[in-house]
Amino acid sequence: MHKTTHCRTVSPASAPSLSPVHAVLFDAYGTLFDVYSVGLLAEQFFPGNGVALSVLWRDKQVEYSRLVTASLDERHYRPFWQLTQAGLRYACQRLGLDLTPAREDQLMNQYRHLSAFPENREVLQALKRQGIVTGILSNGDPSMLEVAVKSAGLDGLLDHLISVDRIRKYKTHPEAYALGEQATGLKAGQMAFVSCNSWDALGATWYGYRTVWVNRYQLPFEALGTAPTHTGSSLRDVLALPGLTGAAQQPGGSTTT
Ligand code: LAC
Repeated sequence: MHKTTHCRTVSPASAPSLSPVHAVLFDAYGTLFDVYSVGLLAEQFFPGNGVALSVLWRDKQVEYSRLVTASLDERHYRPFWQLTQAGLRYACQRLGLDLTPAREDQLMNQYRHLSAFPENREVLQALKRQGIVTGILSNGDPSMLEVAVKSAGLDGLLDHLISVDRIRKYKTHPEAYALGEQATGLKAGQMAFVSCNSWDALGATWYGYRTVWVNRYQLPFEALGTAPTHTGSSLRDVLALPGLTGAAQQPGGSTTT
């Protein structure tokens, strides 16, 4: 495992990192909302298995999203909520845990109201003060995102809630990342995409975003030969991004609220 570096900037030879960043788009699950926080409730239901369940649940949810998108057949598409439920069922079966309907309801309800990482609010507020456009670009379906944002007290701090549900294709499909450009009217290279998930940071880098990989768990990055533009250890590192230029800093620009 390598050590986390704080917002390592690319060398000046890598021109894209030098262009101004007018918008910051965040991944939701794992980045703003702690997908492993369900482990506490899982531990109450299944002592000794809470962590294992939360990890396998998340892995399956993501695997299913790739599976349905790679099928290239829209009939296999399911909203993220349904994939989350399927992932929970699989994980319990695989671990030999008795998922009663009541436990499933409670665990899914917990997923709807995942704990938010503590620094989210101050980081979003700071970006808004600088006039930076903010948003979420997520696999989550719109109702999941709306509830999660509300229950984390982040409403009003995000200009865009972008869900891939409209195109029925999950990240890392390029059309999913293109939604960020369509919503903001900016090119990917003028925006930063922030994700805690290394595969997501990689997909967004391939697409052309300036990326910040928030390496919360001191993991190695994906070993596929492409690095994220920046690496940090908490969302706060986004504020140190070189080139952050909001409406407030642009000549003649006005601060958005
Ligand atoms: C998201 C999940 C995949 O897109 O992290 O929010």
